[in-house]
Amino acid sequence: MQIINTVSALRLALKNQENIAFVPTMGNLHAGHIHLVTLAKQKAECVVVSIFVNPLQFGANEDLASYPRTLQADCEKLKAAGASIVFTPTVLEMYPDFDGVNLNQTMSIALPSIANELCGTSRPGHFSGVATVVLKLFNMVFLNGVQRATAVFGQKDFQQLFVIKQLVKQFNLPIQIIAGETVREASGLAMSSRNGYLTKEQRQQASQLNAILQNIVVKLKAGHAEFDRLEQEAGATLNEQDWMVDYISIRSAITLSRANGSDSHLVVLAAAKLGNTRLIDNIEFLR
Ligand code: PAF
Repeated sequence: MQIINTVSALRLALKNQENIAFVPTMGNLHAGHIHLVTLAKQKAECVVVSIFVNPLQFGANEDLASYPRTLQADCEKLKAAGASIVFTPTVLEMYPDFDGVNLNQTMSIALPSIANELCGTSRPGHFSGVATVVLKLFNMVFLNGVQRATAVFGQKDFQQLFVIKQLVKQFNLPIQIIAGETVREASGLAMSSRNGYLTKEQRQQASQLNAILQNIVVKLKAGHAEFDRLEQEAGATLNEQDWMVDYISIRSAITLSRANGSDSHLVVLAAAKLGNTRLIDNIEFLR
């Protein structure tokens, strides 16, 4: 496994590869990421994993500075999982116009209004930052005359996956996007790099987020049609248990717009804070 940190070295290493599968990450890897690498390996012999904590997708008061950086442990896990290349660029390598203070000179992608809903409401600019870095990474990994290009993203970040699929469709990128199922702890808690911020007690309590979503799914499958009420009741239940709910929302899994009675392919999504830790989860299902 090669560890590469410049775009020129990456392009050189990938020059003759005709089939590449790519897994973009921000590091601090857990079993969910390794599952994505396993899926990537089923698609291509050459698997590239990027580790880059992207400043463009963090808000001013978010955890950019404290986001866990665990490169050595990550590389060991990726080697064991069979990755071919780990790409770990610096901020300046990714954003050559970065002046050391801010990224104001960086070109970014303007996204449709769905990027301002759900997580986009409390994280303005987040998905534009994600789409911009992912497009740049795609250009770095795949613009080598590659014949078959696959990129793998986790379903836990459902709205992110939706934005990336739109990016690929609307910018005509010849890249197949594969969604990797959410990997969960035994309690139901979705694996996330941010779970490490939780205290032992909070980690036990954190499974309530998935449980409340499961509860909504059961009710929807049983025919409940008052979506607003289900969302509000679930939110109130969590808030009573010391969560600070950002949103709980029942959406069409196809368009991500608010679900109506005729939608049968649904996703119920939630974001909520436990202490200072913001967690997200979702369940996609047919009814
Ligand atoms: O999901 C993530 O880890 C990040 O948002 C991504 C896709 C690597 C872009 O920075």
